Amino acid sequence: MNTVLVTGGAGFIGSNLCDRLLGLSYRVICVDNFDDFYATDIKKRNLSNCITHNNFKLYTGDIRDAAFLDDVFTGNSIDIVIHLASKAGVRPSIANPQQYYDVNVNGTLSLLETMRNHRCTNLIFSSSSSVYGNNKKVPFSETDNVDFPISPYAASKKAAELLCHTYYHLHGFNIFCLRLFTVYGPRQRPDLAIHKFVRSISDNQIIPFYGDGSSERDYTHVFDICDGILSAISHLKGFEIFNLGGSQTTSLKNLVTLIEELLGKKAIIQHLPAQKGDVVKTYADISKSRQQLGYSPKFDMRQGLINYVDWLKSNDL
Ligand SMILES: NC(=O)c1ccc[n+]([C@@H]2O[C@H](COP(=O)([O-])OP(=O)(O)OC[C@H]3O[C@@H](n4cnc5c(N)ncnc54)[C@H](O)[C@@H]3O)[C@@H](O)[C@H]2O)c1
Repeated sequence: MNTVLVTGGAGFIGSNLCDRLLGLSYRVICVDNFDDFYATDIKKRNLSNCITHNNFKLYTGDIRDAAFLDDVFTGNSIDIVIHLASKAGVRPSIANPQQYYDVNVNGTLSLLETMRNHRCTNLIFSSSSSVYGNNKKVPFSETDNVDFPISPYAASKKAAELLCHTYYHLHGFNIFCLRLFTVYGPRQRPDLAIHKFVRSISDNQIIPFYGDGSSERDYTHVFDICDGILSAISHLKGFEIFNLGGSQTTSLKNLVTLIEELLGKKAIIQHLPAQKGDVVKTYADISKSRQQLGYSPKFDMRQGLINYVDWLKSNDL
């Protein structure tokens, strides 16, 4: 598995992964359409380490464009695809469900078909903890029922998992679907809570605080996610679903308190009603990933936030 195609490689998780792969001497092909969900300049900056590397190639284009993907596969002998390109974010998917479905489902189908045409049958797909919806049983296990998504984003991720299983069954693909739990760390997307909170508390700006603060998330550091993906590459066989989480939860209230402590500043909070589509709690059971992938997250919330704040400061952000 020497040549890896990373879709969505200019994004938050993708660019961290590209850096790691290049450091391990993989040849990396990055496909990204620099979607306008957040600033293109941020994505260009994300790739600033990769772009001059001899083992790195960037293709700017859309995964829904079959002719474009065909060119990428024709020009490169690709061993494995890490599929991270998607419309991300729960709340915006409620306003724009068709676009989310189109990129996340039809885009995944277009990728699977191109892979089939080029006899590339190794895929790691980035699914999401949101497929668990408001699952009452915690921690969430890969065997739990995920038939009750509560946002178009979650439904699109579940639909893409189903397509992955279909290609495993019909065409003998090896596919791991990794359900990622709220990822944070260097290059975090600007729409995500930790980024917004750190920035706004530092700048004495108001932070929007949805609900009563009791909602909980299993936050996962992006370096741990990259470790999990790398391990998935070396274990890829058959079809499997794995949770990649930090396996500890933090309430919204405690998250703000922790950031206040680290920055030495008080938050100015604007209380707002809980948002439709937001789940009450996420919490990963990672026993299967531990056993089969050797996955073992290293960052607890405090260490992870210290790392993130240091990164923001050292990059003047
Ligand atoms: N960040 C999280 O907390 C989290 C949690 C669970 C799952 N995920 C999944 O992980 C993956 C990466 O998420 P991220 O946080 O890095 O998001 P991101 O938005 O930073 O990265 C996604 C990248 O995909 C690209 N893209 C979007 N549509 C495309 C298209 N049609 N063709 C080609 N490229 C396209 C974007 O330009 C972007 O660079 C996504 O699939 C997301 O659903 C993320």
